Amino acid sequence: MKVLTVFASGGGSNFKAIHHSIVSGEIHGEIALLVSNNPNCGAVKYADEAGITHTIINQSRYPEKKYRDDTMLEILLGIEPDLIILAGYMKKIPDKVVNRFNKMIVNIHPALLPKFGGKGYYGMNVHQAVMNAGEEKSGATVHFVNEEYDKGSILAQEEVIIEPQDTAKSLAEKVLKIEHELYPQVIKAYCEDRIIWKNNQPKIEEVIEN
Ligand code: GRF
Repeated sequence: MKVLTVFASGGGSNFKAIHHSIVSGEIHGEIALLVSNNPNCGAVKYADEAGITHTIINQSRYPEKKYRDDTMLEILLGIEPDLIILAGYMKKIPDKVVNRFNKMIVNIHPALLPKFGGKGYYGMNVHQAVMNAGEEKSGATVHFVNEEYDKGSILAQEEVIIEPQDTAKSLAEKVLKIEHELYPQVIKAYCEDRIIWKNNQPKIEEVIEN
């Protein structure tokens, strides 16, 4: 059983999807903690309802950045998570946390990285940029987190086709739907030790059915 920590700032639909997969027995893990910067977000509300421990780390609680970052690291070291899952977390993870948990932090991005990633590409901006570029497809990417926004090694991607009638809003809905399938699948694989690193690139080992 792997120990998981989730970071979320928003609606928390990915957090919920992951938690549902744990409750149904698909993912062999437990969410030890939800970390958020936003005490009023959907993710925190869901954690309350589901009885998941949560903590708020933000500027109003910890005004000094160094102390805030150190507190985050301390909390995580206390939990000893096997995996840190960013699920719509809107803040940058401090370098000291990224370095300490190397290859142990994953994020989901609502586009096909390396396109449409990096600073400023979040929320509807991503989908609007994809539409403006006239792309024929978009999708979701799960990647490991390094010190740069959306630049860590790509672990899994799932595509969606953009139809002529699509808008940024309808595209966002389509992508979010596939995120709810892709992210739990990847976390399931991680919890089953099926992430293999070769030449510094991660790959998911598929289960061979007999
Ligand atoms: C998702 O689109 C995810 O790709 C991005 O933030 C959004 C989070 O949505 N990183 P939710 O809070 O999980 O509903």
